[in-house]
Amino acid sequence: MNVLCIGAGYVGGPTMAMIAKQCPDVKVTVVDINADRIEAWKSDQLPIYEPGLLDVVKESRGRNLFFSTDVDTGIAEADMIFVSVNTPTKTFGQGAGRAADLQYWEKTARQILANSTSDKIVVEKSTLPVRTAAAMQRILDSGSGDVHFEVLSNPEFLAEGTAIADLESPDRVLIGGHDTARGQKAVQALVDLYATWVPRDRVLTTNVWSSELSKLAANAFLAQRVSSINSLSALCEATEADVAEVARAIGMDSRIGPRFLNASVGFGGSCFKKDILNLVYLCETYGLTDVADYWQQVVSMNAYQQNRFVANMISQMFNTVAGKVIAIYGFAFKADTGDTRESPAICISRQLVEERAEVVISDPQALENAEHDLSDIMDRIRLEKDPYEAARGAHAVAVLTEWDLYAELDFERVFEVMMKPAFIFDGRNCLDHKKLFDIGFNVFAVGKAALSHL
Ligand code: NAD
Ligand code: UDX
Repeated sequence: MNVLCIGAGYVGGPTMAMIAKQCPDVKVTVVDINADRIEAWKSDQLPIYEPGLLDVVKESRGRNLFFSTDVDTGIAEADMIFVSVNTPTKTFGQGAGRAADLQYWEKTARQILANSTSDKIVVEKSTLPVRTAAAMQRILDSGSGDVHFEVLSNPEFLAEGTAIADLESPDRVLIGGHDTARGQKAVQALVDLYATWVPRDRVLTTNVWSSELSKLAANAFLAQRVSSINSLSALCEATEADVAEVARAIGMDSRIGPRFLNASVGFGGSCFKKDILNLVYLCETYGLTDVADYWQQVVSMNAYQQNRFVANMISQMFNTVAGKVIAIYGFAFKADTGDTRESPAICISRQLVEERAEVVISDPQALENAEHDLSDIMDRIRLEKDPYEAARGAHAVAVLTEWDLYAELDFERVFEVMMKPAFIFDGRNCLDHKKLFDIGFNVFAVGKAALSHL
């Protein structure tokens, strides 16, 4: 079987590398219009930082895993086509700021139609609004030939930073197909592909619409947990309850569970906000205003949490950060990735610059993306990979990504090179606050009582 994936991004690259590794008899080709990205996939400097990914790619690259910019030939030769292009939030026209921008996805559909002379199974891998498969089917069926296209939904649940483990041993694989003979045959072909390495009882088959909606719903539920615990972090700070203790206490209830209860400076990443806004827009489109309002609040709470973090920094530092040097530890939206899409660090850095602070950003993997994200204000920002150097002359350190290396730093050394009084704002609750306080820092963590010498 020939498998093609259109879109060589954070999803297309790792998922196809895993299929190629697990199914050596299947030829897997990944195509993209971005020639630089494709060149990077062919090299040892992959375009994304993902622990363990290079080994998986190297195992199959050149054997049954290929990267190319020739989308048309890839389509012509494929039996099964995964569409894994970006589906960002629309920035213009109707639904701007909420609806999914489907222009890349639609171009792909038309390109598939134009280059197909044999039957294809088309698999939606991108996250899409419910009923997009119907639109995809309509475009594909608009041709004059007798080629048959069967559209399946197979959303991806991998999280960045743990993509390889998530792909190797997924909680479930979800496949949505139509309840027709051809639909079920296509579903079976995709089930067989995954069943090579995923236990059969973890491969879930549903109708297409349930599959499309389940992806939006899963991200909405996960983000809702983070917003819920973050909302309580504000109350903890006001009452001297400790959010980590509260999270532990509620998480031990097996009905609630312990994961996704870490209070933070806010959730980031390319998916949560975009997918919830997409859900909100869908609800409004169907006239379900109360449902839309309910989910919108998860996003609003996330903005509140980021704004609250900056407001607290300013208020603790005597109501001004103008002219002060602030070292940001971590720019990625979470640890173990260089991805900075929707990272809280972007909005926090911008607010600090607006307050006329001098911002020094440190991160082990995300400085290139940081430079791109803040290109319009780079004259007020310095990038410094070494966290000790970043802290030199700083009035405050703000930890915005929970990289292991920050918990392992020698904070006596950090304290020595900082201005006094020295402040630490731990936006990830990943440091030893008591120890920092004993060194001399004034410590402010999310959802915890302040430890201040002032
Ligand atoms: P990405 O931006 O990293 O990659 C998308 C790629 O598609 C880009 O390289 C782009 O050049 C390419 N592309 C766009 N139009 C094309 C075309 N016409 N022909 C060929 N290539 C084209 O995006 P991503 O993070 O991989 O996300 C892809 C989809 O998967 C999105 O719908 C996203 O919501 C979903 N998703 C992402 C994650 C994640 O963790 N990033 C997880 C699950 C699902
Ligand atoms: C998410 C979904 O988890 C994944 O299933 C989907 O396919 C893509 O979107 P990702 O964005 O890679 O994955 O990261 P995730 O681990 O979900 O974290 C999202 C954000 O929430 C990060 O900024 C993270 O730091 C934050 N978070 C997560 C918290 O603040 N607290 C938590 O307890 C968990």
